[in-house]
Amino acid sequence: MNETLQAIRQRRSIRKFQDTPIPDESRDAIIEAGRLAPSAMNRQERHFTIVQSQSLLADLNRESKAIAATSRNRHISLMAQSENYNIFHHAPLVIVVSGPDRPMVESDCAAAIQNMLIAAQSLGYGSCWVNFALFPFNGPKGGEFLQRLGIPEGYRPYGSLVVGVREDGPTGERVIRGNTVNTIPEDAA
Ligand SMILES: Cc1cc2nc3c(=O)[nH]c(=O)nc-3n(C[C@H](O)[C@H](O)[C@H](O)COP(=O)(O)O)c2cc1C
Repeated sequence: MNETLQAIRQRRSIRKFQDTPIPDESRDAIIEAGRLAPSAMNRQERHFTIVQSQSLLADLNRESKAIAATSRNRHISLMAQSENYNIFHHAPLVIVVSGPDRPMVESDCAAAIQNMLIAAQSLGYGSCWVNFALFPFNGPKGGEFLQRLGIPEGYRPYGSLVVGVREDGPTGERVIRGNTVNTIPEDAA
C-alpha cells in the first residue's frame, strides 16, 4: 500500500505523550501541511497559532472544562468534571486553527487540521484533534483568549490539534463501523 494511504489507515487519536519536544523542523512540516490544505475559493484565510505558553494552555484547559462541565451532553460534562482530564492531553505541541467568520471557513479549518494529523502520523508522531478547546470562545473570557493567542482581528478558532511522541506503541487501525457508501450505477445504454 502506498505511504499516504498507510498513514491514513494507521492514524489514531493519541492521548498519552512523552515529555519530548517536537523538533522545529517537524513542527514546521506539520504546519506547512495545514497551510497547503484546500480552502473554498482558494482564499487561504486560515491562521495557525503554535501555543508554547504553559500558563495559557493551563488557563484554556481550566476555562474549557469550567464551561463544558455545564454542557447538556453528559459525556462532555463528565469529562470536564474529571480532575485529571487535561483537554490538551499534556502534549508538547498545540496548534489552534482560526479563520474569519465566513461561510465554509469551518470546512477550510477542518481540512487543514486533517492534513496536519496525517502529516504528524507520516512523521511518526501521535496526534489528536481537540475541539474541546473551543468552549471558551463563546464564553465571557472569549475576547481575552483571542487576544492572548494573537488571533487576527475578526477571526475565531474553529479547531485545534495536539501532537507529540506517543507514550505507548502503535495503536490498532480504526475499525470502520459507520460511514456508509452507496453507488448510483451508470445509466443503462
Ligand atoms: C471535530 C472533531 C473534534 C474532536 N475533538 C476532540 C477533543 O476535543 N478531544 C479529544 O480527545 N478528541 C477529539 N476528537 C477525536 C475523536 O474523538 C476521534 O477522532 C474519534 O474518537 C475516532 O478515533 P480515531 O481518531 O482514533 O480514529 C475530535 C475529532 C473530531 C473530528
